[in-house]
Amino acid sequence: MTAADRALDFSGKTCSAPPARSARMAALALGHIPDHRHVRVLDIGCGTGSLVVRIAEARPLAQVSGIDISLANVRAAEHARASSGAAPRITFEQADYMAYRAVPFDAIVSDGVLHLIPGDTRALLNRIASDLQPGGVFVCGMPFDCRYNRLFALIRGGLRHVRSPLVDRAILFAARALHGREMDARSLRERIDYMYMPPTRMLDRHMRERLAPAAGLRVVAQYPMRSTSPSQLRHNVTVFERVAPVV
Ligand SMILES: C[S@@+](CC[C@H](N)C(=O)[O-])C[C@H]1O[C@@H](n2cnc3c(N)ncnc32)[C@H](O)[C@@H]1O
Repeated sequence: MTAADRALDFSGKTCSAPPARSARMAALALGHIPDHRHVRVLDIGCGTGSLVVRIAEARPLAQVSGIDISLANVRAAEHARASSGAAPRITFEQADYMAYRAVPFDAIVSDGVLHLIPGDTRALLNRIASDLQPGGVFVCGMPFDCRYNRLFALIRGGLRHVRSPLVDRAILFAARALHGREMDARSLRERIDYMYMPPTRMLDRHMRERLAPAAGLRVVAQYPMRSTSPSQLRHNVTVFERVAPVV
């Protein structure tokens, strides 16, 4: 699958983590973002902007930028920005991260996105490292390698080959049963596509102990992230610090 195909998967759709998850991700990220000096923070794949707004509101000296490949997300995020007291320190932009260029940040955060970006993991980690100041941190929520996620990856990959209106309806039926109380009909429909997206990568030992250090990213902390749905890949949150690459 090419980057252009993946961009089509997201175009016109919104995506936001449930509030409890976004609050947990913000609390974890804030534990690694200084509060005593000016910092620049980037959220890769910011969805509707909840994490960006939470970080900006909790760090009055931070300039926080969110980028997302979906224009619908960026529009919704602009809406969230308008009602925040931190609005002047927040920016949102539609961009594919792999084509995005900016001055290096003090912190990068990203939740539920890295496994959706196609391409070589080494190149992705090199990009992230080069977008960080030395000593900067990358707070990354993503699926990790485990049996549950491997099984889900297989199911999602298989579903991709048999997609039909009937399969869509079956997925929607299950989604309603699981989340009909807390999610509206539009959000449930927007989630259908995710069931056809096997992860491009999961955080595994090789990524943590070989690829990341080679890119200049050292693991400094790891936290569990509670799953909000059995239909979701299991995630954890890993914090990397930008150091000199290990050759
Ligand atoms: C599962 S959603 C997570 C959204 C948000 N991080 C949150 O936790 O609410 C994944 C998001 O990644 C975005 N995305 C996917 N590929 C991207 C890319 N190459 N560059 C920027 N954003 C991307 C999608 O549009 C979508 O909003």
